[in-house]
Amino acid sequence: MAYLFVNAARSAGTINKNIYGQFSEHLGRCIYGGIADQDGNLRAPVVEALKKLRIPVLRWPGGCFADTYHWQDGIGPRSERKTIINTNWGGVTENNAFGTHEFLELCEQLGCEAYLSGNVGSGTVQEFSDWVEYCNMAGVSPMADLRRQNGREKPFGVRYWGIGNEAWGCGGNMRAEYYADLCRQYSTYLRAYDEKLSPYKIASGANVDDYHWTRTVVERAGHVIDAVSLHYYTIPGPDWQHKGSATDFDRAEYYTTLHKTLRMEELVENHSRIIRRFAKGRPIGLCVDEWGTWYDVEPGTNPGFLYQQNSMRDALVAAVNLNIFNNHCDTVVMANIAQAVNVLQAMLLTEGDKVIMTPTYHVFAMYGAHQGARQLESYAQTRMLGQEGEQVPELHMSASEQEDGTVLVTVANLNESESVPVNCLLGDVTPAMVTASVLVGAPSAHNTFAQPQSVIPATLPVTCSETGFTAVLPPCSVAAFTVCQQ
Ligand code: AHR
Repeated sequence: MAYLFVNAARSAGTINKNIYGQFSEHLGRCIYGGIADQDGNLRAPVVEALKKLRIPVLRWPGGCFADTYHWQDGIGPRSERKTIINTNWGGVTENNAFGTHEFLELCEQLGCEAYLSGNVGSGTVQEFSDWVEYCNMAGVSPMADLRRQNGREKPFGVRYWGIGNEAWGCGGNMRAEYYADLCRQYSTYLRAYDEKLSPYKIASGANVDDYHWTRTVVERAGHVIDAVSLHYYTIPGPDWQHKGSATDFDRAEYYTTLHKTLRMEELVENHSRIIRRFAKGRPIGLCVDEWGTWYDVEPGTNPGFLYQQNSMRDALVAAVNLNIFNNHCDTVVMANIAQAVNVLQAMLLTEGDKVIMTPTYHVFAMYGAHQGARQLESYAQTRMLGQEGEQVPELHMSASEQEDGTVLVTVANLNESESVPVNCLLGDVTPAMVTASVLVGAPSAHNTFAQPQSVIPATLPVTCSETGFTAVLPPCSVAAFTVCQQ
């Protein structure tokens, strides 16, 4: 029996709902053939499936694509929009049918905030500044008038703006010092056009453990930004040429993947410490605006499209990362898994008109009630598993309390072969009723278009006691316990 402890007397704060954010790039079949058709029209089954996730914020148009994107190419009558080559992702020609209006319409249908990444690598300050004016200016102005001409009277009200993407790499191969200066310059011209809507400015952040980057940006540009980003992908293989298969892996690779994904905690803690130290008292947040698994593409698919399957191993990766973000909600203000549809660790995979939900989708749904809830300190008394040097804890958890007193406890059992009986002690929380759901399967279990429901949440038997609850967590599973208080 393993003990889980939830301490309602201690909290890191409110879990920012934006931790449950998503990312959608012009890459492979994320936009065209995923979210939209080739004419830029939203595809209803995809939008309906995404709606159920209650996505709080959606990042667009990249990624690397953002620093090649000129937003004015994607507005106005679709038949008159110019074509472009997506030089980062497969060299395909795009017709720009999906642009600012189409993306912001998607956000309105999903009921989520938009997070637009501006072009710093190959754009201009004027171009970026115009985009903000186009989206947010209510009165008369050249850009607001252009927006009206294109059929949108009221402003879109976009709050989140990324000042470039991966400026150390595809976003311009810059040095941190150079980028920090550019960030100051760009930030100056991203104006507030509405006194109730200040642009929330997110600086292009570090790759993995590049602490020099975070320090330099925060030290030199911290006074003009609200947050700095961090990108960390979980890649099981030894290098970019051998990342590993999404579904064909052995026990050792399973534990290697989980070990690597657990590194997110160290990264979040170290970058947060640097932000705190150099922010000179300003509340600068950490936005993990790209994270998730990155495998070799599915055999026979375009290598530039980053299409991969998604298994129970991915479900555990999602659970572990979301637990980490919940437990560090004092600094993690946003996270955007890469990506929403058909790319990397996707929520949805599509084939023609067919749409399937991945195990990762189900984890996001099961964790949904953490959004905006008060994080509660929690602790799993657990043993370590896996191979020498790459050990992982058997159990990984987080907990939160909603405004009405309902407590959500989410626990992943990383043990691929053994179930674990747990006794969760809830401290000051007196449970009246506990219900639970579980997502379970072999590590490589996944959904296909022929069998879309191989991995779906099921009810987990749970026994409520005066002090908490007991249950048995199946091997390789993610469980969500909902505790109603007396
Ligand atoms: O998500 C895929 C790519 O990964 C993004 O375009 C880029 O920012 C990162 O390197």
